[in-house]
Amino acid sequence: MTVIVSNRGPFRFTRTPDGGFEARQGSGGIASALGPLLTSGAAGDGATWIATALDGTERDAARAGQATAPGIALKLLDVDPNVHHLYYDVVANGTLWFLHHGLFDLVRQPSFDHKFREAWAAYEQVNQMFTDATVELAPDGDIVLVQDYHLALVPEMLRRLRPDLRVAHFSHTAFCGPNSIRVLPDDVAVALCRSLSGSPAGFHSRRWARAFEASAREVLGADARGSTFVAALAPDAEELAQLAASPAAAVAGQELEAIVGDRQLIVRADRVDPSKNIVRGFEAYDLLLADHPEWRERVVFVARLTASRRSMPEYLAYNNEVEQAVQRVNERWATGDWQPVVVETQDDYTRTVAALTRSDVLLVNPLKDGLNLVAKEGALLNQHNGVLCLSRDAGAWDELGEAAEPVHPYDIGQTASSLHTALSMPAAERRARAARLRELTAARTPRDWLDDQLTAARAG
Ligand code: G6P
Repeated sequence: MTVIVSNRGPFRFTRTPDGGFEARQGSGGIASALGPLLTSGAAGDGATWIATALDGTERDAARAGQATAPGIALKLLDVDPNVHHLYYDVVANGTLWFLHHGLFDLVRQPSFDHKFREAWAAYEQVNQMFTDATVELAPDGDIVLVQDYHLALVPEMLRRLRPDLRVAHFSHTAFCGPNSIRVLPDDVAVALCRSLSGSPAGFHSRRWARAFEASAREVLGADARGSTFVAALAPDAEELAQLAASPAAAVAGQELEAIVGDRQLIVRADRVDPSKNIVRGFEAYDLLLADHPEWRERVVFVARLTASRRSMPEYLAYNNEVEQAVQRVNERWATGDWQPVVVETQDDYTRTVAALTRSDVLLVNPLKDGLNLVAKEGALLNQHNGVLCLSRDAGAWDELGEAAEPVHPYDIGQTASSLHTALSMPAAERRARAARLRELTAARTPRDWLDDQLTAARAG
């Protein structure tokens, strides 16, 4: 048996007209990679998944004992909405996500006042709830795979209450380095580093594993023990192929063709998150059109941008900045029959699949990213010998960098010339690079990623 512990579960629950509840596969990399593996029994029989109820409907489903799904024992924690807000918005996303991705404007933020202390207590409380549920559900000697920065305290809590369990923690994000970890209040930094360094700690990239090791040494000194492991996630090639071959993808593909015509297509697909560096992407495109008139009317930039973390003011503000950046480019360059940037905001994975299949250039320019699964999905799906313009600060760079066109995420001039190089690349080189990208990506499967975690937990 295996217990998976993550903030977001593998299924989302909605109401059915008869007052019952219906489960659908949830969004996010963890759900899409682990969900199918666990429900098919790849982690051994009877996997258990503990997650939070994400809204009122899911809380109702949990209370009614109807948050169930086939093939897996699901436990949705009914967390008080205010406690959940403090744990999720203030600590996990408002502090740890910002810190790990270098998003703070340090002159102004963060400022750790009594409000933060209240939020930190809520973070501890929710981590304790996950721990208690695990303690209750895990048989003797079981393996527990704890996912991501929302639940960084769970390993230490479990070690104290259930030393028989074999626990590994996996971070899907970047991890901040030894200078940045000092931004956190001392006790918070110690609690996080101690918890993660007491059990095997996994990362998608060697770079984030090293950053964590250096942070743990900085904070814990000689007490920094622990082992890290690197296990990059990969998309499920078969599932992607099925989706790409579906009638819905064919319709989406035709709609896209109508937009693109005989032009080249630049694509990006991201949650609207400051770490994704969407505004600089449009600024680079603007510069490309200014410096290279030959691309005007010859290229379309389709940006699939899905709403994210709308409960946080920083995300709403960033969304406005993104909209303004798009407007600036379109106002400056659009002609009668050419719209330089087309933004699509529907959360429709099939449309993303169609765009990744058709793109000539895929722009992935995050400031920092734990992995970036879109880069890998694009590599597997693309049918146009598309070029990947990839940030060197995305975890996926470790594996795909040799066949990608590098992007310096803060350097707009460099990003513009990376786009230019990609758009002008001779056909033979595009073909060779696309083939190599596919090969590098296909070297790993979601199953490898799961096995690496199980192995690390057993060895730890
Ligand atoms: C990142 C995190 C995941 C998270 C996802 C979506 O990839 O590593 O843990 O689920 O973002 O963010 P959300 O806040 O919507 O769960």
